[in-house]
Amino acid sequence: MSAVAYEVDGETAVLTVNYPPVNALSAAVRTGLGEALERAGADSAVKAVVILGAGKTFIAGADITEFGTDKSKVKPSIHDLQTVLEGFPKLTVAAIHGTALGGGLEVALTCHARVALASAKVGLPEVNLGILPGAGGTQRLPRLTGVEVGIDLVTSGKHVPAPKALELGIVDAIVDDVRSGGIAFAREALASGKTFVPVIERNEKITGIDPSVFAEARKNVGKKARGKIAPMVIIDCIEAACTRPAKEALAFESEKFQELYASDQRAALMHYFFAERQARKIPGIPADVKAKPITSCAIIGAGTMGGGIAMSFANAGIPVTLLDLNQEALDRGIGVIRKNYGISVSRGSISQDKMDKALSLITPTTDYADLAQCDIVIEAALERMDVKKEIFARLDALMKPGAILATNTSYLSIDEIASATRRPGDVVGCHFFSPANVMKLLENVRSAVTSAETIVTVMEMGKTIGKVPVLAGSTEGFIGNRMLQYYTGEAEFLLEQGATPEQIDRVATKFGMAMGPMSMRDLAGMDMAVVSRKGRAASIPEGERLSPIVERLVEAGRFGQKTNKGFYRYEGRDKLSDPETMEIIEGVSRDFGITRREFTDEEVEARLFAPLVNEGAKEIEDGTAIRAGDIDVAWVNGYGFPVHRGGPMYWGEQYGLDKIYQMALEAEKRNGPRWGPCKLLERLAKEGKGWDAA
Ligand code: CAA
Repeated sequence: MSAVAYEVDGETAVLTVNYPPVNALSAAVRTGLGEALERAGADSAVKAVVILGAGKTFIAGADITEFGTDKSKVKPSIHDLQTVLEGFPKLTVAAIHGTALGGGLEVALTCHARVALASAKVGLPEVNLGILPGAGGTQRLPRLTGVEVGIDLVTSGKHVPAPKALELGIVDAIVDDVRSGGIAFAREALASGKTFVPVIERNEKITGIDPSVFAEARKNVGKKARGKIAPMVIIDCIEAACTRPAKEALAFESEKFQELYASDQRAALMHYFFAERQARKIPGIPADVKAKPITSCAIIGAGTMGGGIAMSFANAGIPVTLLDLNQEALDRGIGVIRKNYGISVSRGSISQDKMDKALSLITPTTDYADLAQCDIVIEAALERMDVKKEIFARLDALMKPGAILATNTSYLSIDEIASATRRPGDVVGCHFFSPANVMKLLENVRSAVTSAETIVTVMEMGKTIGKVPVLAGSTEGFIGNRMLQYYTGEAEFLLEQGATPEQIDRVATKFGMAMGPMSMRDLAGMDMAVVSRKGRAASIPEGERLSPIVERLVEAGRFGQKTNKGFYRYEGRDKLSDPETMEIIEGVSRDFGITRREFTDEEVEARLFAPLVNEGAKEIEDGTAIRAGDIDVAWVNGYGFPVHRGGPMYWGEQYGLDKIYQMALEAEKRNGPRWGPCKLLERLAKEGKGWDAA
């Protein structure tokens, strides 16, 4: 059966792409479209063609699974189809529902017109795969939207809702039904004799553009790109659209596409794309286990974390009951939520309407009884086991049967918390990251007895509320924080041995981290680090130590940004180097008899990131992480690891697991037994294999 169904309705041929899951432009779809267009062209009764998608979406892009395979070379190519469409002698209309993305939108842009359901979205998200929309997207989209909007859309990969797309000129009309709406649009256009100029020939919005537009875009986009190449190359292509003849600019785009396609960043970003989707698949859970519906949510604790979690649910349209122990704490929490929404409204990122709607979904209470009927309760109270156990015993007595009892703990044992209830199968960790309304990672944590239904529910819920869920096992610190201590720990040992906070932060941000480890400590507050390190002291084995630099900075009143001094000194928004910090660090070096030496940036980079990979391997070995890709997804979304490096485990594999293994042996000698390699890393290093063989 063809991947494209062909029917004729009156004078209109309807071409329905049917290639689940997302109607990607696979060889089968391209062949089907090519044949169907030929048929429509040859049928003298046909005056117009409507292209639409079956199932949940229009065409979501090129088929990523065919990249680099022989199938991608099967003719017609996307370009061949576009040439046919752009010169097609009969009216062509793309009728869009779901998403028209990448090659899907680019094909639609070579139709004479586009109509869409109001719920549809369009976009060119190739930048997220380290490439550019190489089927003319950088050339045609700005011709409709104008250059500045075009640059914004293509460099960010944003999905644009259809009503906005109509305003921007990307679609021509909003319809109630793709099939009948598409046909009606075609009929009306034929009846009125309306003509459509091919998008590639519409030059009004790309003519006479001041070069400063591109200079400004390079400055702004460069700041956000954190080392990503594709966004900058996209600007070059859009500039070419404005300065060169169309044919030449299209050829330039193709050439740049090939360059990006060959890049390491493309490989890393594609690894990440599939890793994020694979992370939602939990081995061992039968396919018939379905998620329970989550139509209401209770949150215990209206502090920073609880408030952010409440916003995440309210933003997804799920009613939230927010509990705190007294009215004052509750009022403060609601006040912060209101303020955060207010900031988003003033920045224009949400409408006043959306803010009002979200706020109306959050009901504050001081009465536990109000939580009882919620589908899930998420506890975000004090990080103390005795407190958590008391709350969970109370929830066990209170919550309706089948409710999910979740804790937002960042390191405490889910098994122990669950033991305070008579329904441990319903207990799970839902570890959000601060600020919880912004950060994408949701680290769901299972105990040994968390039920399959509970796991499936919280994974599905994560997606519903716009998070990226990853499943972890309940070892101390779970996936992310357990690794983090080795990253910050090694950074502090590097300071003792001769590196400076400035060098370490510079290397980390040049690598692409959102923030360097020293700046991160200053932001989070060094006093918090001291408390958490005291809590972890028992797990540090004999003969091993943590660097005391953080404690010494706190003793000197250097708590971080909150006291205007930590590793750095802060004057307003300026972060400055401070000789006092170096005196403290050098004092530690002296006390431990360490001769300070210079480090190259390459050494610093390897020393910072190799311990992450080693600890990640241990997590795979002991079952805390299901697979290396899950760790990558956690670190990209929760810890600012650069997505264009694929995540720490992917980076480690590219760097060489044999080298990571050798570095772990050296770290073991230097720092103590916990830093040594695990059997898994040793095996993979010696066999020359990657994580697939884990
Ligand atoms: N090619 C092949 N498979 C794809 C795909 C694509 N373009 N997009 C999604 N899929 C697959 C996913 O891998 C997933 O497969 P599994 O079920 O086996 O894991 C399945 O479709 C469903 O995907 P999601 O879980 O992501 O489903 P969703 O409903 O949450 O989201 C979506 C749907 C918005 C389309 C999302 O999948 C998405 O953003 N896809 C990527 C779109 C994209 O990047 N398009 C550009 C491609 S590159 C290009 O077009 C180059 C060019 O210029 C010609």
